[in-house]
Amino acid sequence: MNFSEEFDLLLRACYPLIYIPTAEEERVEAAIAQSAKKLGNRAVYVWDFVEGYQDNPNNSNVGRRNPLQALEFLEKLPEKAPGIFILRDFHRFLEDISIARKLRNLSRRLKAQPKNIIILAPEISIPPDLAEVLTVVDFALPTATEIKTEIQRLLCATGKPLSDQLLDEFARSAQGLTLERLRRVLTKGIAARGGQLEPEDVELVLEEKRQSIRQTQILDFYPATEQITDIGGLDNLKDWLLRRGGAFSDRARAYGLPHPRGLLLVGIQGTGKSLTAKAIAHHWHLPLLRLDVGRLFAGLVGESESRTRQMTNLAEALAPCVLWIDEIDKAFAGMNGKSDSGTTSRVFGTFINWLAEKKSPVFVVATANNIQALPPEMLRKGRFDEIFFVGLPSQEERQAIFTVHLSRLRPHSVKDYDLDRLAYETPDFSGAEIEQTLIEAMHIGFSQNRDFTTDDILEAASQIIPLARAAQEQIQFLQDWAAAGKARLASRHNRLGDRIQRQLQ
Ligand SMILES: Nc1ncnc2c1ncn2[C@@H]1O[C@H](COP(=O)(O)OP(=O)(O)OP(=O)(O)O)[C@@H](O)[C@H]1O
Ligand SMILES: [Mg+2]
Repeated sequence: MNFSEEFDLLLRACYPLIYIPTAEEERVEAAIAQSAKKLGNRAVYVWDFVEGYQDNPNNSNVGRRNPLQALEFLEKLPEKAPGIFILRDFHRFLEDISIARKLRNLSRRLKAQPKNIIILAPEISIPPDLAEVLTVVDFALPTATEIKTEIQRLLCATGKPLSDQLLDEFARSAQGLTLERLRRVLTKGIAARGGQLEPEDVELVLEEKRQSIRQTQILDFYPATEQITDIGGLDNLKDWLLRRGGAFSDRARAYGLPHPRGLLLVGIQGTGKSLTAKAIAHHWHLPLLRLDVGRLFAGLVGESESRTRQMTNLAEALAPCVLWIDEIDKAFAGMNGKSDSGTTSRVFGTFINWLAEKKSPVFVVATANNIQALPPEMLRKGRFDEIFFVGLPSQEERQAIFTVHLSRLRPHSVKDYDLDRLAYETPDFSGAEIEQTLIEAMHIGFSQNRDFTTDDILEAASQIIPLARAAQEQIQFLQDWAAAGKARLASRHNRLGDRIQRQLQ
């Protein structure tokens, strides 16, 4: 259901108190005015703290600097008189006892009257005693069509319209921006070019979008240059991805394929989970958005939920995209804990619902080290397409990882290194430790004014104690968990480290 459908329904079903969190006051008020028209020209009243009720000859300035009076005004109107009452920034007054009480009284009374109160606020901030009576409705960012209309409207004045292709390109790059910001950046662009837009101005729009995403402080654009071929091993996982190569294309839609939904990658540190997330975005040529889960929980109670919705709204507006949630286990670890006032579970609820119900092409890649910290709902079918267990690389895979990194570091002399031996001599090493070993070997070579050799790498490796040795229990646990059919193996050959294998032989 889109905003106007949901909103119309709430109005008709006499929901007395509606709360809309949005930064786009103007746009939402226009949308409300349209709904009011559809409902047989229902009167719309707009109140704000400085001016009181506006544009209303009979009651101008009623409730000026007086939010309680703004509510009392409703009761003075005839019971049968229909009306929509928009209260701007009213979230600021909800903590006040008389306002809260008045709202709860009104919520009962208005159920039988054709009146709705709409609270507009830039964020969700609802005291617990009002949580039951307020219905929160999300107002999505502008659609491609709305964006196109706005661009055309702006260019209309100068009389130099864009070609359809260029208009499409501008609209695509602007998706995720509010109309207000779009207007601001385009007006600047148009003025700078003496009344028109050039193809290069798409970059202006993209930069504005990057900034607005950064300002959320929750999401960040992440450049993804890594490719699937940069991943050594993990063949099952790579096959899965390669089979879905064109999955976000129009051709796939025409074929009737649903969008891939997401992956959960579980495994120990340094085994290539983050690397895979980046390679996925590159593989599909989609923008990669990294979610900082820690930030979701920073700040006041109630704000976290608001931020979660803001994040999912933004991701949907930017779709198709890859949403990368690194270390998701850390976010929800505090759930049900004593110190948590239920915020974590509410955020988790909001998030998991979105995950299960999302229709838009947002591919979620979540990574986790500790599955014990993950709520079971997360692991249920339907949240992700697949859960992969990423274990320690086998000997064969280590050889592949050495090859990937040496090909990058020494593209012309990979064949000079004894890859068989390197892979054999590094049991229990993770991909990250292999990379670290190579850097160490380079230091050895560099300090002696020569290139680094196989022996230098082995020397460096002998000085590293792989994390896996200290974390055997954790690895064994994960391995058993995966073996019990809870996850698919990312590698074709997965075992508990070769050293332990060898000991068993
Ligand atoms: N399978 C692999 N192939 C090639 N390089 C790898 C592989 N695994 C790890 N690496 C190297 O190690 C680095 C760190 O790996 P990455 O950040 O992907 O690990 P991770 O699984 O996300 O670990 P953590 O759980 O600590 O976040 C990568 O940037 C890459 O250079
Ligand atoms: Mg990582």
